[in-house]
Amino acid sequence: MAHAPTAALEQRHQFVRRALAGRSLDALVVTALPNVLYLTNFTGTAAVAVVGPDRIHFVTDARYVTDVEAMAATGHACPGLELVRVDGTYDGALVALLDRLRFSRVGIEAAHLPVSRYRWLVDRLTERGAGPVLVETEGLVEQARVVKDAYELERLAEGGRRLSAAALEVFAEVRAGRRERDVALAVDVAVLRAGFARAAFDTIVASGPQGALPHARPGERRLTEGDLVVLDFGGVYDSYCVDLTRTVSIGKASERARRVHAAVLEARNQAIAAAAPGVSRFDVDGAAREVLVAAGMGDAFTHGTGHGLGVEVHEAPRVTRRMPGIDTTDEALVAGMVFTVEPGAYFPGWGGVRIEDDVAVTGSGVRLLTDVTTELVEL
Ligand code: GLY
Ligand code: MN
Repeated sequence: MAHAPTAALEQRHQFVRRALAGRSLDALVVTALPNVLYLTNFTGTAAVAVVGPDRIHFVTDARYVTDVEAMAATGHACPGLELVRVDGTYDGALVALLDRLRFSRVGIEAAHLPVSRYRWLVDRLTERGAGPVLVETEGLVEQARVVKDAYELERLAEGGRRLSAAALEVFAEVRAGRRERDVALAVDVAVLRAGFARAAFDTIVASGPQGALPHARPGERRLTEGDLVVLDFGGVYDSYCVDLTRTVSIGKASERARRVHAAVLEARNQAIAAAAPGVSRFDVDGAAREVLVAAGMGDAFTHGTGHGLGVEVHEAPRVTRRMPGIDTTDEALVAGMVFTVEPGAYFPGWGGVRIEDDVAVTGSGVRLLTDVTTELVEL
């Protein structure tokens, strides 16, 4: 498994440290595991990282100590890492560490620290008297993650290539008479065989009327002649998530199926054509939505056009309609962002179509990371 080089981690730390300085914070307690992974290359399931001015205190337990120590001697070592072993509880170790470091203002990740843990930490630090003030922060590390570095772009591109190759194996598994669950299992096997560590989310195989549910769960239904089948699957490759959807026909597609598929494909094409540095993410969504509205399918497109991809399968940027009161800035696309383009049209009782590809924003437009036919495939 590959990991980000030390120099890339150093850049990420500097980004976070600049954000801390801008808020007059001495350090940030990172409790969200995807953020810990992004900053340290740690792929385990339990750790807390405290990003200070020149070091990262890395709190973990006996299960991971050997791993972290081994990483220190490689080209992907986390710079400035100081290991702190958990002897009792994580939060006990964290309080003792914060007590020792004598910071005065320390950020916590408000979106990722349960209220009960937060209160416990505040109470213990207050009891001790000399502890730092904990300050709620939001999105400090996530902000760094939005624009991918060269290492991440390369991994995401490789993930896209592998997922595209897996799609061909997936098509070979789709035929009349098979149950959705069996096809989903075959999809998961194809994804693992393509070199992914795991699926990025629960695979979707939604046939016939089930296709009207954007996040349908594969069930007992057998694929039937004339069905459209939404196949949506993703994988985690070297810690980075990629995501792909194709909608195929079992046997000859009906006139209506062709019409809906053509409209969704045109929406996907227009969104991809609109995406470029400096363009608002809302306008990329608008480009897709406009096509479906013009085709009389505006109400059938019930979700956003896409989502960012990275160490999480859903992250910034959200490529959606502007939400009044929530989205107050335009947030233009920037070279290095990676996101999905996945318009769909869903008709309860009939079925649905979704077509999804992954793109990386370049200096002048976007580069497709996935490469699978966008024709309506009849199987
Ligand atoms: N492909 C599943 C999702 O984006 O939610
Ligand atoms: Mn997706």
